[in-house]
Amino acid sequence: MPLLPKLPSTLAYGGDYNPEQWPESVWLEDVRLMREAGVNLVSLGIFSWSKLQPAEDRFDFTWLDRVMDLLAQNGIIVCLATATASPPPWMSAKYLDVLPVDASGLPLHQGSRQHYSPSSPTYRRHAGQLVRRIAERYRDHPALAVWHVNNEYACHTGECHGPASTAAFRVWLRKKYLTLDRLNAAWGTAFWSQIYGDWEEILTPRRAPHDRNPSQQLDFRRFMSDAYLELYQMEKEILHELTPGIPATTNLVWFVRAIDGRSWAPHMDFISWDCYPDPLTGHGAEQFAAVGHDLMRSLKKKPFLLIEQAPSAVTWRPVNPPKPPGVMRLGSLQALARGADGVMFFQWRASRAGAEKYITGMVGHGDPGQSRLFAEIKSLGRELRLLAPITGTTIRSRVAIVFDWPVCWALDLEAKPARIDYPGWAQELHRYFYERNIPVDFVHPGAELDGYQLVVAPALYLLTKADAANLEKFVERGGTLLATYFSGIVDENEQIVLGGYPGYLRALLGVRVEEWIPYGEKQVNPVRFTGSGKEYPAEHWAEVVHLEGAETVATYGRDFFANGPAITANRHGRGTAYYLSARLPAPGLNELLQLVTAQAGIASLLPAPPNVEVTLREEGRRRFLFILNHGDTTAVVSLGSYQGIDLLTGSKTDARLSLTALGAAVIQLS
Ligand code: GAL
Repeated sequence: MPLLPKLPSTLAYGGDYNPEQWPESVWLEDVRLMREAGVNLVSLGIFSWSKLQPAEDRFDFTWLDRVMDLLAQNGIIVCLATATASPPPWMSAKYLDVLPVDASGLPLHQGSRQHYSPSSPTYRRHAGQLVRRIAERYRDHPALAVWHVNNEYACHTGECHGPASTAAFRVWLRKKYLTLDRLNAAWGTAFWSQIYGDWEEILTPRRAPHDRNPSQQLDFRRFMSDAYLELYQMEKEILHELTPGIPATTNLVWFVRAIDGRSWAPHMDFISWDCYPDPLTGHGAEQFAAVGHDLMRSLKKKPFLLIEQAPSAVTWRPVNPPKPPGVMRLGSLQALARGADGVMFFQWRASRAGAEKYITGMVGHGDPGQSRLFAEIKSLGRELRLLAPITGTTIRSRVAIVFDWPVCWALDLEAKPARIDYPGWAQELHRYFYERNIPVDFVHPGAELDGYQLVVAPALYLLTKADAANLEKFVERGGTLLATYFSGIVDENEQIVLGGYPGYLRALLGVRVEEWIPYGEKQVNPVRFTGSGKEYPAEHWAEVVHLEGAETVATYGRDFFANGPAITANRHGRGTAYYLSARLPAPGLNELLQLVTAQAGIASLLPAPPNVEVTLREEGRRRFLFILNHGDTTAVVSLGSYQGIDLLTGSKTDARLSLTALGAAVIQLS
């Protein structure tokens, strides 16, 4: 099944289109330029609720009818928004309960966007009504291709403490725990006199004098993700009832922590996401994008849609430079290289008014269609047509990195030995594979791991017994596991797993951790590899580790636990489980990961110079090798047996491929 049944063997290309911000005369120029650019899909009307429903009892679809017709006449299909991300002013003026409420009990008002509480019955009623109207009106329209449900759920708000949310939280808790005794046990309420005697006493975790109950907070994060999901499903059910053949998606943002991607993925017909790397992080920007693409592709193990990226500059960082020539193109090809079946931007035409007017559009404020950027947009449109054969292929990985949202939520909570940036740590481990062109997926610790040879689990702080058993089975059957510090510490209720750290992983890793040693900024502890004799300064974190069957791979050089194990390896069944108890700098991490990849029999797809990214997309006999030079000098790659036709140039490959700075090749392998 292709991502978009209406684009079965073509890559999607386009952007957010907000014609409601412009007079009709501009629409004609829009479609002319869209055709020039090769645009075939636009996300339409995402923030147009107040235009579609100017008053509670009045809808106006006439303008949208005209836009839909115009797009259809010009062969452009539509990712039609359900327009529910920004309720119109009349709603919050009349119904205060639609507003989200922060942890201090203060409402977040209209005047921006996303000012709705996901649990507000009033908001849900109006949103449902709007979605039904839109779906009924456009169900048979030839331009309708996909539904864009809401927009970036929870990216600004993420939590609500209002009366409706509090009531819904209690319902959610009753369903989960059935009895108050169970809830009190799960939340450890004997601590600080928090024992509940009535469900009505329970609140969302509000502003309080000091650290709040972590188990309660964790359940609240789960509840909020579920509340948004319920909202998404409410819209999706209406859409599927009225337009069964039209897929529905919503744009995810992976570093927004409020949404549990794993529990959402099955409800999305395909995954789409918004990728905004920080251009001031140099090559870090490419790796940031790579991690995101890998995470999103992994959610369904299928092609995804890059539904938003910046054509050039954004405005929400302190400094917002444009993308220099060639960078937007290479970033777009990178998304395809890592599994996207389409490339879209925020937004088509840069706004004239409003908070986002300095965010670059595919079409800018001056000289429409004449800019340096628009020339690049057009050229990318041409290239995407050449790349159509890759549609529907995906990436096969033998390496998986464990990433789990509840772990992230639990590590984010206050009152820990030290703060651990979980996504950052996952990204740091991903870097090794990225730099060496080793394909990598992200998985849940309870996922089917049979196809993988190496599983890397950064700070798996929260771990259930069942998920630990899953990792154990993986190693028993011959897999290689690398677990890192502060793993297996708490159960799903954020309560310590007693009997010695790292809890359920203790037998598998063959170690017992006795103490954690978080370090201040300038403190380090040299970690020495027994094999190579090389030493690397551990920063941020170390542990006092005792062997219980494992062997020492590296030792600490300092402190009261000097000469004690820092890295260990434990044979278990037919596999090996490694444990890294410290935060190593990149070179040390590289040495360790080299060791574990060798142990797991993992090799690079193709050796390439630094900053040259290589990926392989395949499906059956269709195989495509992407080679992207993110560097600023020419790079030469020996292709070995990877021979075929470069889809971008139409030429046959030679033994060596030379790519200029920011150059790319997509080789259809013969
Ligand atoms: C995205 C959002 C868009 C737009 C864009 C600006 O996160 O979905 O609506 O605000 O950022 O960069």
